[in-house]
Amino acid sequence: MKLGILCSGGDAPGMNPVIRSIVRCANSLGHETVGIRRGYRGLIEGDFVPLSSREVGGILDRGGTILLSSREERFKSLEFRERAYENLKRERIDALIVLGGEGTFRGAELMAEEAGISVIGVPCTIDNDVGGTQYCIGYDTALRNAVEAIDRIRDTASSHERVFVVEVMGRNRGFIAVEAGLATGAELILVPEEDFPKEKIPEEIKKAKGIGKLHFIIVVAEGYCSAQELKEFLLEQVGDRYGEVRATVLGHLQRGGIPTHTDRIMGMKFGEVAVEAVLSGEKAGFVAYDRGRFYIEDFKKAQEFKELDWEALRLSRRLNL
Ligand code: F6P
Repeated sequence: MKLGILCSGGDAPGMNPVIRSIVRCANSLGHETVGIRRGYRGLIEGDFVPLSSREVGGILDRGGTILLSSREERFKSLEFRERAYENLKRERIDALIVLGGEGTFRGAELMAEEAGISVIGVPCTIDNDVGGTQYCIGYDTALRNAVEAIDRIRDTASSHERVFVVEVMGRNRGFIAVEAGLATGAELILVPEEDFPKEKIPEEIKKAKGIGKLHFIIVVAEGYCSAQELKEFLLEQVGDRYGEVRATVLGHLQRGGIPTHTDRIMGMKFGEVAVEAVLSGEKAGFVAYDRGRFYIEDFKKAQEFKELDWEALRLSRRLNL
């Protein structure tokens, strides 16, 4: 059997360990593997590269993806998908494993229906927002990056007795904000899933400063509002009455860097399950993880709303006295 592998959408640290695992698991069972560069763009353009055991050596500790990634709008059009299917046929690829988030899985589902080959997804996104799976590759590393950065910000925030607004990624979800905020003891966490009125923030700052807190750190998910917008709002409402206000956007710093051991190990496990799924004749679906168990989930499940860890948010508010 010949298996194609591609990465699509935003890269996620841990994609390389997934690729290594797929290649080596498949090769060890006598199957061939080929990489497709730049995700769906490479499928459309026929950009295939040989990928065997040696080519995936020395990549466990590399962030990003050796296969490159892209967000390819053309894949939404049947005309371009048909071009991709011809390339798959010409290359004699029997099955595809696609690494990415729910957007990637929409394309994967279409391909499984239209091209008649087996397509298995591996959830990879720092946002951890794919429905139907508790974990997505890249999330742990993004959290490590965000926590390290916020810890550093706290040092300067305390020394200058400032109010700091730190914007984290997450698209329209607050997974990174909640866990990074709880782990760093942020005074306030703002997420798009909760309707926390901005008007209440000055009161929260006043309370914290009133009990002797040196700093006030707000971790805001990009989906709630931008750090700049919040900073301007606070300046308008309280000026520097409770300390100077500063805003930092962590941005893509969160997405890069050496994958954590969790992302490496989860990546290897996800990769193995994907290969086994293809070999056992699964036609379509993605590898999901829940409470220690890996299984194949319907692609449609990826679009479902995944509950935030409300307990973590509640705990952060309880502990931030
Ligand atoms: O989906 C991953 C992610 O990093 C989001 O958190 C963020 O909103 C988006 O991608 C940024 O996209 P880009 O890298 O295209 O600017």
